[in-house]
Amino acid sequence: MKSNDPLPSIDTLFIKTYGCQMNEYDSSRMVDLMRQAYGLRLVAKPEEADVILMNTCSVREKAEEKVYSELGRYRKLKLKNPSLIIGVGGCVAQQEGQRIQQRAPYVDAVFGPQAYHHLPAMINKIRRERVRVADIDMPEIEKFDYLPRTEDALKQGVSAYVTIMEGCDKFCTFCVVPYTRGGEISRPVDDVLAECRTILSSGCVEITLLGQNVNGYRALGPDGDEWDFTMLLYALADLKGLKRLRFTTSHPSEMNEDLAIAFAEISTLMPFIHLPVQSGSDRILKLMHRGHDTKVYLETIDTLRKHCPGIALSSDFIVGYPGETDADFDQTLALVRQVGYDSAYCFKYSPRPGTPASECNNDVAENIKDKRLQQLLALMHEQSSSALQRHIGTIMLVLVDKKGKKEGDIQGRTEDFKIVHFKGNVRLIGHVVRVEITEAYGQSLRGNIVINDDEWEY
Ligand code: SAH
Ligand code: SF4
Ligand code: F3S
Repeated sequence: MKSNDPLPSIDTLFIKTYGCQMNEYDSSRMVDLMRQAYGLRLVAKPEEADVILMNTCSVREKAEEKVYSELGRYRKLKLKNPSLIIGVGGCVAQQEGQRIQQRAPYVDAVFGPQAYHHLPAMINKIRRERVRVADIDMPEIEKFDYLPRTEDALKQGVSAYVTIMEGCDKFCTFCVVPYTRGGEISRPVDDVLAECRTILSSGCVEITLLGQNVNGYRALGPDGDEWDFTMLLYALADLKGLKRLRFTTSHPSEMNEDLAIAFAEISTLMPFIHLPVQSGSDRILKLMHRGHDTKVYLETIDTLRKHCPGIALSSDFIVGYPGETDADFDQTLALVRQVGYDSAYCFKYSPRPGTPASECNNDVAENIKDKRLQQLLALMHEQSSSALQRHIGTIMLVLVDKKGKKEGDIQGRTEDFKIVHFKGNVRLIGHVVRVEITEAYGQSLRGNIVINDDEWEY
């Protein structure tokens, strides 16, 4: 405690993140901000922290309960250390607002995904006035203007996320995101370019652009015109230091041939796309208000494969949407067989508060949802294993991103996003090396570095 400051000092921060990559991006920006404002040091355990932040997700069931049970742990820490500051941010915070503080009165701050740039001011108020604060306003995307990436954050490694758009206007009937993140807003092209340049100058070589519907990006370009997502990709492709460019998540109704062509023309754009279809039944897609049918989806896949033959595909699926019949589900299995995915996330439908689908009274029985999920997972497992098997015997370009778990191992990703383990020196981290694939495991590959006679220098 400083002699002229009556307040207990705050030195350490613990942050717990749930949900999508956009939440991960937001959490790292919050860490930057708190480091800048208070000089806080990030710690790995809540027990060591003066400030605990939770960045929550409410996309699927039990999200709220998970938050309250985690908060129960923090309550015990606060009983021992009354000056501990606890903040809850993210999508559950946006949805629940002050209800969180009614149920858990020891929570000092509640803030939504668009309000975390107010965090330092909120913490200041809490420390000085010992009050509880809540901020779940949704101002126009202003948070990005307040969140420079700091030096420490820049030392984060080989690969970085950059959020290029917030929110969603699609209002799929099952989904809570439009209510928690607000309407779709894209960041201006110059802002995105500037952030990417900063990241690349710190030694990072791979950038993943983030948005709920990243390919629906539309924003003011440097020429004063509106730019779309493909134009942004071409502008980013030339940035100095960029070895690999990726993006997620794409929406099928925002796809066009230009984007497929970009995969062929931009050498840094990696051949992998996450394109969630949710269901293989047109009847269910219509009920979901997805804005596309299976025909459009399959044509999009054909176009992607025409321009980028080896492109790896992944998707999200929901089983047991209200009213889904065996016949609907069979169509999902048929679509999966027709497409041939490299990977997918499969979820049981869960009603989310405030969404239209949650008002339906024709819920699919839990045991049927379970059965369908198991069937879909078994099929996906077959497909992902054969996608990995196909790589055996080939030589892949692998961006080394970290030390492996086994002694002497390093690991990285192929261009089509498969994890590869192999023996090698950690000084190769950040470099692209050629690896001959020798084995496929459940979710990853193993291989050996291939070095030509003229390649001894890295
Ligand atoms: N914007 C992306 C994904 C958003 S949420 C898109 O449109 O594809 C990530 C995934 O969570 C969704 O693709 C969907 O499969 C799943 N999901 C969302 N709401 C859900 C719910 N109520 N029940 C089960 N899964 C859900
Ligand atoms: Fe949710 Fe649909 Fe928006 Fe994706 S597109 S975030 S599933 S509402
Ligand atoms: Fe979850 Fe919010 Fe992301 S609900 S998936 S954290 S946008």
